[in-house]
Amino acid sequence: MKKKGFIFDLDGVIVDTAKYHFLAWQRLAKGLDIDFTEEENEQLKGVSRVRSLEKILAWGNKTISQDLFNELMGKKNEEYLSFIAEMDTNEILPDVPRVLNILKENNQPISLGSASKNARTILERVNLISSFDAIVDGNDVSKAKPDPEVFLIAAKEINIKPEDCIVFEDSVAGVTAANTANMISIGIGSKDVLGHANYVFNDFTEISDDFIKSLIEN
Ligand code: G6P
Ligand code: MG
Repeated sequence: MKKKGFIFDLDGVIVDTAKYHFLAWQRLAKGLDIDFTEEENEQLKGVSRVRSLEKILAWGNKTISQDLFNELMGKKNEEYLSFIAEMDTNEILPDVPRVLNILKENNQPISLGSASKNARTILERVNLISSFDAIVDGNDVSKAKPDPEVFLIAAKEINIKPEDCIVFEDSVAGVTAANTANMISIGIGSKDVLGHANYVFNDFTEISDDFIKSLIEN
């Protein structure tokens, strides 16, 4: 049996945490008198925490001191973590466990490649931490997606060459990062947004066992 490296993004691929990021950012924006819409939130998918706040401030035409910036980052994360604390296995997106299982049954190494600094906490909440052979997250990288750094480290940690890796991603920046890393990109979401991926599925229910097996064999 061939060995490929399967790399999963977290937010929007394994769990839908975008709604919690949105609630926390929205409250923060409101406090600054900035209108923050769900469409703008879409543009924050895959974007680091620092960069997200910079974008929100730019949309609202606000400049703030570095001290306030740091304080707001802390507050946002505190509120976000209060939602995460309530998460359980019910929040795992449909058919993600089936795909993880088929990979495990076929002895395929599995890595996480996420921009989030809360990745381990979230994986623990939904009881999936032991499904991963390696976890690479926002604490391990210096360059954010679309830079391929996070996926290249994720591949290295499971000892698989980048060209033998397959990445599951829901963000535009993440698909670009996977492509730049010379990996096969599988977009999870809409074709209109993720057209640059090698394959696109609305969600994991559309990904058959046979498709996964064909990724392993080819
Ligand atoms: C993911 C999410 C982004 C989030 C980023 C950092 O990429 O899609 O919306 O801003 O992680 O998450 P963190 O948990 O570190 O604030
Ligand atoms: Mg994501």
